[in-house]
Amino acid sequence: MTLLDEFAPETPDRGTPAVFGEATAQVTVDGISVMVPVGTSVMRAASLAGVAVPKLCATDSLKAFGSCRLCLVEVEGTKGTPASCTTPCTDGMVVSTRTEQVQQLRRGVMELYLSDHPSDCAGCARGSCEMQRLAADVGLAEVRYGLGGASHLAETPDESNPYFAYDPAACIVCSRCVRACSETQGTFALTVSGRGFEARITPGNSDFLSSECVSCGACVQACPTDALTEKSVVSLGMPTRSVVTTCAYCGVGCSFKAEVQGSADDTRVVRMVPWKDGGANEGHSCVKGRFAYGYASHRDRQLSPMVRDSIDDEWQVVSWEQAIERIATGFLGLREKYGVGAIGGISSSRCTNEEVYVVQKMVRAAFGNNNIDTCARVCHSPTGYGLNHAFGTSAGTQDFASVEQADVMLVIGANPTDAHPVFASRMKRRMRAGARVIVADPRRIDLVRSPHVEAAFHLPVRPGTNVAFVNAMCHVIVTEGLWDEAFVRSRCEEADTYLEFIARPEHSPEATERETGIPASDLRSAARLYATVPNAAIYYGLGVTEHSQGSTMVMGMANLAMLTGNLGREGVGVNPLRGQNNVQGSCDMGSFPHELPGYRHVSRPEVREIYEALWGVTIQAEPGLRIPNMFDSAIGGSFKGLYVQGEDIAQSDPNTSHVEAALRSMELVVVHDLFLNETARFAHVFLPGASFLEKDGTFTNAERRINRVRPVMPSRVGKDEWQVVCEIATAMGYPMSYAAPSEIMDEIAATTPTFAGVSFARLDAEGSMQWPVTDAAPHGTPTMHVGSFVRGLGQLTPTVYVPTTERANRRYPLVLTTGRILSQYNVGAQTRRTPNSTWHPEDILEIHPSDAELRGVSTGDVVELSSRVGTTRLTALVSERMPAGVVYTTFHHPVTGANVVTTENSDWATNCPEYKVTAVQVEVVTQAARAEVDAVAAQPVRP
Ligand code: SF4
Ligand code: SF4
Ligand code: SF4
Ligand code: FES
Repeated sequence: MTLLDEFAPETPDRGTPAVFGEATAQVTVDGISVMVPVGTSVMRAASLAGVAVPKLCATDSLKAFGSCRLCLVEVEGTKGTPASCTTPCTDGMVVSTRTEQVQQLRRGVMELYLSDHPSDCAGCARGSCEMQRLAADVGLAEVRYGLGGASHLAETPDESNPYFAYDPAACIVCSRCVRACSETQGTFALTVSGRGFEARITPGNSDFLSSECVSCGACVQACPTDALTEKSVVSLGMPTRSVVTTCAYCGVGCSFKAEVQGSADDTRVVRMVPWKDGGANEGHSCVKGRFAYGYASHRDRQLSPMVRDSIDDEWQVVSWEQAIERIATGFLGLREKYGVGAIGGISSSRCTNEEVYVVQKMVRAAFGNNNIDTCARVCHSPTGYGLNHAFGTSAGTQDFASVEQADVMLVIGANPTDAHPVFASRMKRRMRAGARVIVADPRRIDLVRSPHVEAAFHLPVRPGTNVAFVNAMCHVIVTEGLWDEAFVRSRCEEADTYLEFIARPEHSPEATERETGIPASDLRSAARLYATVPNAAIYYGLGVTEHSQGSTMVMGMANLAMLTGNLGREGVGVNPLRGQNNVQGSCDMGSFPHELPGYRHVSRPEVREIYEALWGVTIQAEPGLRIPNMFDSAIGGSFKGLYVQGEDIAQSDPNTSHVEAALRSMELVVVHDLFLNETARFAHVFLPGASFLEKDGTFTNAERRINRVRPVMPSRVGKDEWQVVCEIATAMGYPMSYAAPSEIMDEIAATTPTFAGVSFARLDAEGSMQWPVTDAAPHGTPTMHVGSFVRGLGQLTPTVYVPTTERANRRYPLVLTTGRILSQYNVGAQTRRTPNSTWHPEDILEIHPSDAELRGVSTGDVVELSSRVGTTRLTALVSERMPAGVVYTTFHHPVTGANVVTTENSDWATNCPEYKVTAVQVEVVTQAARAEVDAVAAQPVRP
């Protein structure tokens, strides 16, 4: 399969969804015999036989609708001409798709469509309209009723959405967009209003921008005419080739066809179209991956290396050679002066596996220590610790498709519709098909209730009390005899100790109700539901990990799944919804100071020996510094030099003033990034990075799926990031070089057992693979722990609840928790440089009406948010989504600097910051402050 430099092939559109089951029905289509499962549509059977039946309202991602009447066929022994998309196959059926009668009927239908279609349709000229191609296909020579499309011409196109437009004149009301919005996306934003020639598509009662539309683009993709079109296609014209690559935003890891124009050296992206054969997204997308790629060509991008002697000096543009020389001399000097442990590096979950691998290699082999950490430290490090402890592998247990078999989804501390939107659409589909959902989250997130879906339970767990909550769930299951004794006795260890622990009365829902805020009766009912369905799956996010007991909570969820036997098959499991695109991969690649690639502890001599033999160096047996230790050591004077790749630690890490003090204390800070971010304010060398459109490598998503990232255009900065890292190591006296990123993956595969069968060639052939990829599992492993756990027996662990020291008090009586919003991403470095800021131009503080009333706060007021470590200002939104006593904000805008108020509390096992619990006070501030915040929000989004 070739996926480069031409229109990437994908599975053809067979008109209607596949029917699963044994192919027992023999059907003959135009003389060609084909076997299909009973119930398969005639249209799909024809397609499988290699016969294309014309269609307009059908597409295989949506249920058949049967409205356009173009797909008529004749079936032997049956009267009339049924629509092939809505006619199911039966054994022995004989179908004719090209008789004179059906051809004639199709020409008539097409003639009617074209008579209501503008004669000057831009889509015809561009070649972007499926209908025009079909007209030729059905052999329509003339339109007897005239062209002109009089019915909708007077209507103004809806241009409100920044990324696409709707032109009623070109709309044939086939309803594909309406069905895509409902069935695929699950937003139900569109309806057909009016009848006959008056019919048109309406988003809510208004335009697209003001409607419920979340700009996922599914309707645009489904539209067979030019009625819904990307504005980029209108302005740039049609693409001429495509490259299949992977979204660089969240951990869902959606595959896209980057459709482009221009030569290899001068490439313009026309649009990003979700790839139907993408294992994670199966042709769906969200607003970020689909549309928010413009940051890659934003004028703020720094394209040249820069240096300065002091952080108070102006930057000086230098050559790559000069910058690398400066870094190498600087790091070597610091090592000489302060010792081998005085320097270190931070790798990025935004970068490819290959880039991350070479960074940890540079630190271990060229710096000579284990002072390598990654931004996973501040998000999912407790996942790695907790799941490894319980099951023996630091990763989720399932693939995304597994959710199709789940009867109950327990969603804890995650907001998938905002943070993992494409998977959320899959979850909502499953909910509409009958699966029940238990949401454990302080906020009433969208999954609690949105169009056509409603959770069975919303358990408003108070921030910081997750462990008490999960213990109460397990207590109910054990004391009510709902646990799976056979599974626990055969597959787990330490069962009796755990069972005695969890059955203690202090873990009962009644005993913990005051602490957790969850009514005991609701918790009991939810536990019974989780324990008694055939398949129950846990999905969780940073609302679990970013706590002082994050690792304990991950083990608590593992206990819950083991107690109920919900592991080792489809539809079950413990599934972290990973934040960043490659957070799984950056952890896999040995980015932690205590682990070599594949989660093998640096203290294990047999593991060190593998790398020592290959790299020709001695690797330290002691773990290096974690990010917070680096900061503390910098302030203490023993850590002096830092290389940071693709992470804006000055904005994303907690207790900003502490981070800034640490950065100021260092003598050499090297920032390798796309933009001069907040951290670059403290840097001495800036190295320009490459965007995902310029990268060659792999990302690993939340389901352990290794996806290829292919270069859509050459690096705009002249070098790939892995090359730059190799050059720094080489200049420091440790020669490192590879001919291509595929060679780096070959080294990873040769040294990391779970990646043993991975290579770029295999990935290109298979599309993607989920690790472990081994001789025993040559195509990858969608479901882990089948039959036995990776560690042998699963580890049941008594999870003692230890309340966080960060408690609301008289001075700071509210608890702040943080999260994401759909249109922005993390610190916003990318999304703020796109029209996505249309939807979320500033961070907002959500506050419950009673807390707001007590403080005289109304929606739109500027409020001061203060904690024991800092103060910031932002706009208030009074919202019933919040429970009383808890406020919520996002951290996408540096001007708000939400992390100014978050504290240095962290997970006991991994130091993951306790972002989700900060005791705060909220007070209204003056009109002058309102004007200040408005002025910042009103700053135009620069193209
Ligand atoms: S906008 Fe497109 S998909 Fe929607 S009804 Fe009109 S032609 Fe069909
Ligand atoms: S962009 Fe997505 S959410 Fe918006 S109307 Fe289209 S399908 Fe619905
Ligand atoms: S769901 Fe995540 S990976 Fe998929 S398009 Fe959106 S941001 Fe990208
Ligand atoms: S494709 Fe079958 S009726 Fe439209």
